[in-house]
Formats: sequence, structure tokens, C-alpha cells
Amino acid sequence: MSRIFSGVQPSGNLHLGNYLGAIRNFVGLQEDYECIYCAVDMHAITVWQDPADLRSNTREVAAAYIAAGVDPKRSIIFAQSTVAAHAELAWIFNCVARLGWLNRMTQFKEKAGKNRENASVGLYAYPSLMAADILAYKATHVPVGEDQKQHLELTRDIAQKFNNDYETETFPLVEPLIFGAATRVMSLRDGSKKMSKSDPSDYSRITFTDDRDSIAKKLRKARTDADPLPETEEGLKGRPEAANLVGIYAALADLSKQAVLDEFAGAAFSTFKPALTELAVEKFGPIGEEMKRLMADPAHVDTILKEGAERAAALAAPVMAEVKEVVGFIRP
Ligand code: TRP
Repeated sequence: MSRIFSGVQPSGNLHLGNYLGAIRNFVGLQEDYECIYCAVDMHAITVWQDPADLRSNTREVAAAYIAAGVDPKRSIIFAQSTVAAHAELAWIFNCVARLGWLNRMTQFKEKAGKNRENASVGLYAYPSLMAADILAYKATHVPVGEDQKQHLELTRDIAQKFNNDYETETFPLVEPLIFGAATRVMSLRDGSKKMSKSDPSDYSRITFTDDRDSIAKKLRKARTDADPLPETEEGLKGRPEAANLVGIYAALADLSKQAVLDEFAGAAFSTFKPALTELAVEKFGPIGEEMKRLMADPAHVDTILKEGAERAAALAAPVMAEVKEVVGFIRP
């Protein structure tokens, strides 16, 4: 059976974009793959995280996986920092990856911003750690959003260079699994920006912790244009906010955007937004509720994370033994 690895950063404000673009897709994959789902706390600290918040956010990612339907008996759920193989392999990959490759990473450029001199070395080396996450388990398939495609290409480059340099076939070349329709959920305040945990406006995102009232309020305030909904997807061109809300509806209802427009063509947002609110409350609300319920018992979540870490470490151990042998590290 092929192996899946994916991760979500525990950096707070888990939102509808994380759910529709990533976590939701993890559930169905359990049928066909051996799945390893990680809360990537070591990636999170590439930018500053308050320690108490990081701990709580790490549990929250685990709780969100479970609430969404990832079965911790079948799949592995764990925190990255609890399995040493990630850090060990990341160092080796830092010595395989080239500066020139990392210089091309658009996520680094975006996150480092203008003040690049002041970005952490970890933020720069982020993609080596991500490659290590995946390849420590020789995972073959990685479900991610569009924005992570470049990092996965780098993972392939690292695997290939490692295999070439050491004349081995240690690592597989991973395949991205990119999901359809509304995998890219945009800000409710600006349809040209991704929904993001770091947007200063709470109204830009619907989070896992939002209740019915705040979901309704945020959607009521969501930016739109003045026109009614069009008849075809073509008519959503140049209307990013309308396209985003239709996309969210489609993803939540498991419909195509066209099917949503077939139902709502000609409707004003004063009609569409309440319908979208009902749907979001019905589909997303219970998952947030379940996440909050799990968070009320952190000891239970920690038990799941501990068991996950043990299973993950057992899978990574033979890979790390092989890699160390290939690289020429001694085994005293
Ligand atoms: N970089 C990913 C993100 O920000 C998170 C991540 C870390 C990841 N390691 C991974 C995703 C390994 C897939 C596989 O979304």
C-alpha cells in the first residue's frame, strides 16, 4: 500500500481554508493509503510562536484532524518534534539542497518580506525539513494545497540528488495530490488574498472555534460586489469575492461551482449569504464543536499523540538506519 504524509502548522487560528484545502481531504485517503498526519510544530517555530500557544495549537491541530474524521487507530497522528528523525534527516538534506534551489522558493520570499536579513535561518531551510518529513517515511503521495507544489518539487529534487550523489535508490519521488474546486479559500474581506491565520482582521476568516452566530456575522459582512450571481462560471471572472463564496458553497455541498450557479443564478447576495451560512453551520459547525470538545480533555489528545509518535518513530527507524549507512555515519 502506498504511504501518505501530510502536515499542518500549529500556528493558531485554524480556519475554513485549512479544512477545505487540506484536512477534509485527509479523511477519504484513509481508505486507500497508509496515512501519516502531522502537526508540524518545528515548522511553526520558523517564525516566533509563544510557547504556551504553540502547545495548545499543536493539540488543536490533532483535535481538528480527529474532529474532521481522521481515525487515530487507523492513521497516525503525531507532533513533528516528538520524532527525532525529522530533525536528523533535515540536517542531512540541508547538505543536499543547494542555496540556489532555496533562493527560488516563493514562500520564503513572501514570508521573509522586505527584511530578509532578519528572517530566521529555519525559515530559509524550511523546505529541507518538509522534505525530511515526507522522506523519513518514504511516503509516496502528499496531499497539499496549490501553494505547496513548489516545496514538493524541491522534495523531489532533494530525493533525486541524494540518490544520484550516493548512487542509491533510497528515496522515492513523491507525487502531489492536489484537490479540486475550492481548495483555495480566499479572504472574506479581499477575494484576491488567501484566507490566512495571520490576517489582522478576524472577519477575513471563519475559524474552527467560530459558533453559529459568528459564522453568520462574518458571512453577512463578507465583501461582495453589487451584481446578482451569474448563470455560468464564466460570469464569475473578474468577481473574486463572488467566486470565492460560490467556491466555498460548492466545496461544502460537494457540488461543482456550476451546479451551485444552476441553483442560485440571478439571486442577490442577500439571498445567497443566508443559504451559505446555513450550509456552513450545518457542515463545518459540528467539526468545530467536536474539536472544542476534544480540546476540553488535553490528556486524551496527548495519549493519541504519544501513540502516534511511537508508531511514526517505528516506521522512520529503518529508513534512518539505511540513510546513515548510505551517508557513511558510523553505528557505534
Ligand atoms: N508546508 C506545509 C504548509 O505550510 C506544511 C507541511 C510541513 C507539510 N511538512 C509537510 C505538508 C509535509 C505536507 C507534507 O502547508
